Amino acid sequence: MQYIDLKIDDDIALIKFNRPEALNALNKLMLDEFEEALIKTLNDKDIKGVILTGEGKSFIAGADIAEFLDMNAHDAVSFAEFGQNNICGRIENAPKPVIAAINGYCMGGGNEIAMACDIRLASSDAVFSQPEAAIGILPMWGGFRRLIRLVGLGRAKELILTCRRVKADEALSIGLVNKIVEDKNNLLDEAYIILKNILANAPIAVKLGKAALNYAAEFNIHDANDLERKLSNILFASEDKREGVKAFIEKRRAEYKGE
Ligand code: COA
Repeated sequence: MQYIDLKIDDDIALIKFNRPEALNALNKLMLDEFEEALIKTLNDKDIKGVILTGEGKSFIAGADIAEFLDMNAHDAVSFAEFGQNNICGRIENAPKPVIAAINGYCMGGGNEIAMACDIRLASSDAVFSQPEAAIGILPMWGGFRRLIRLVGLGRAKELILTCRRVKADEALSIGLVNKIVEDKNNLLDEAYIILKNILANAPIAVKLGKAALNYAAEFNIHDANDLERKLSNILFASEDKREGVKAFIEKRRAEYKGE
């Protein structure tokens, strides 16, 4: 692939955006390659988790603005659907954890992709923005809802309507990222550590937990409580739960089967 690097180490896949000359702006080919890498890694049962990062000083500086020149209204709807379903929806609904290791500019569609991930780590020089309105468009890959979920309606309105840039420390304070990694050289190591911590837990709980939290974020408290009862019903009948509880009592490490 020309613009996407895919590296698989044991059971973790690292997908790197690699178009540094354009700060990893997503052109059509890069998006198609990214979709291909996502399908490959998310469908592969031997890959348990995925990390996304960018080459150079940018995670993703948004969609390639040059390609918007000839995009008509009809094309825009297809482009929105592609980003919503084939990219961001695919990440959010993946049956395995996906971590964004944000190494610099994280703008527009890049921030929408980061927000679709389960956990966001940022280097201390990362810069976030939804700058679409400055060029007469708006976020279209699920960014409205995900930004509101993470930072609240008031801040989402401010960020989308002003297009202002947010540095890493502010991104952390408003909940846009989970953690800042001060030394950029440690960003990927930190992402691997967090992913491995997740993967050490009972696979059935991680998989169902991710899916259920996505649903619960959109539910009212009654439906969310109902979902928790259904999950408890499934988990308390699972091998993983039997093994996890037994291992705790026997003071040993659990050996999970994912069922
Ligand atoms: N689309 C296409 N090209 C882009 C791009 C984008 N979204 N973002 C950066 N690039 C290209 C620039 O055109 C430039 O190319 P050139 O060297 O051929 O002129 C190269 O990447 C470097 O960008 P530059 O603007 O010179 O870097 P900078 O460090 O001064 O500024 C940004 C970095 C991210 C602040 C600035 O590039 C920017 O605002 N990009 C657009 C972000 C955006 O609006 N994204 C949302 C699109 S909907």
